[in-house]
Amino acid sequence: MLGRMPPSSEPDRTIRRAWRIERAGSLTRLKSVSEPLPPPATGEVQVEVEAIGVNFADVFACLGLYSATPKGSFVPGLECAGRIRRLGRDVTGWREGDAVIVLTRFGGYTTHLNVDARTLWPIPAGWTFDEAAAYPVQALTAWYGLLPLGNARAGSTVLVQSAAGGVGLNAMHALQRLGAQPVAVVGSARKREWLIDRLGLDARRVVIRDAGLARGLDAALASLGKGGFDVVLDAVYGAGFRMAFERLAPEGRYVLYGAADFMHGGRRPNFLKLAWHYLRRPQLDPLAMIPQNRGFLAFNLIWLWEQADRLPDSMRATLELITERPHIGATYPFDEAHAALAAIQSGHTTGKLILRSKLQSKDG
Ligand SMILES: NC(=O)c1ccc[n+]([C@@H]2O[C@H](COP(=O)([O-])OP(=O)(O)OC[C@H]3O[C@@H](n4cnc5c(N)ncnc54)[C@H](OP(=O)(O)O)[C@@H]3O)[C@@H](O)[C@H]2O)c1
Repeated sequence: MLGRMPPSSEPDRTIRRAWRIERAGSLTRLKSVSEPLPPPATGEVQVEVEAIGVNFADVFACLGLYSATPKGSFVPGLECAGRIRRLGRDVTGWREGDAVIVLTRFGGYTTHLNVDARTLWPIPAGWTFDEAAAYPVQALTAWYGLLPLGNARAGSTVLVQSAAGGVGLNAMHALQRLGAQPVAVVGSARKREWLIDRLGLDARRVVIRDAGLARGLDAALASLGKGGFDVVLDAVYGAGFRMAFERLAPEGRYVLYGAADFMHGGRRPNFLKLAWHYLRRPQLDPLAMIPQNRGFLAFNLIWLWEQADRLPDSMRATLELITERPHIGATYPFDEAHAALAAIQSGHTTGKLILRSKLQSKDG
């Protein structure tokens, strides 16, 4: 369990280390730098970072394929965990030394950062910093996609794409907790075995995304005695898109929150391949959706982050629903950010990748 550190008197300026990219477009431009950090402004706190969550979106941001990416120089990273080191003016409810989860609109790949105090949450009792840093983006994404948008509830039949990934695992936990009936899709036999074993799933409801996908989805539905899915949660937007959409039940909702299929590997984007992929992307006809009574929704968590006043309640609801500690797939020292990004780009990871700002003891 994480204790509270005694307050310390700090110099006015902090020199921090950060992974900074001068201009998005290539992962090779991401460099480790030392730079001054000003004191926290009004309403902000300064956090000394212990662990950083690595996200798929970090790769897209560095490659320049993520629309929310800042123009010019920026530090990637959407989440981290650490201790409050300094309080800015008008910050209430927090103390120096508090252990916190931080959701940030970029800027997380660093040893220290200043953040709006409204984007902090206390670390649940007993969690390590790695687990805390792994939580906010993926858990909030799973909660927002499944509940406010997908309207999943007890008894709903829900298809989760990439179910062994970070968002996918959170979604599976949330659905088990809700008493819904999840069907998982994964990219390989190895992930399938891992997921069945980890979550104690019925093997008929864990399907591999290969040539037998359509057959596997039908068999999973038949095993549940259902004719279609009430919700589909998808961030692949690939070959399985149409198959899943066609298996939505009336009033079913398809929730799309990413396009991993557009990830081609490599240090810079291959625009020719991307253009080809874009032209051949699966598309829907809204007119055909009317007689079928099916819905389609899409979202980006950055939008929710920008609704700063809604964020505390959203995070509270997420923490109430998804209580499992995140599964950490691998941890990397701060200097090995490039290796962590290459791993996430490979698509072979399970659970969450963490970049450690410092060496941690076993309990954080
Ligand atoms: N809209 C939002 O606000 C939001 C927020 C968070 C995450 N996301 C998106 O959600 C997706 C999952 O995020 P995550 O954090 O759960 O990541 P993750 O743990 O790395 O999982 C991503 C999974 O995508 C699948 N995948 C399919 N095609 C791929 C390809 N060409 N290259 C690499 N992986 C591929 C892989 O699983 P399988 O092969 O088993 O399918 C991979 O494990 C990402 O696309 C991310 O950008 C969106």
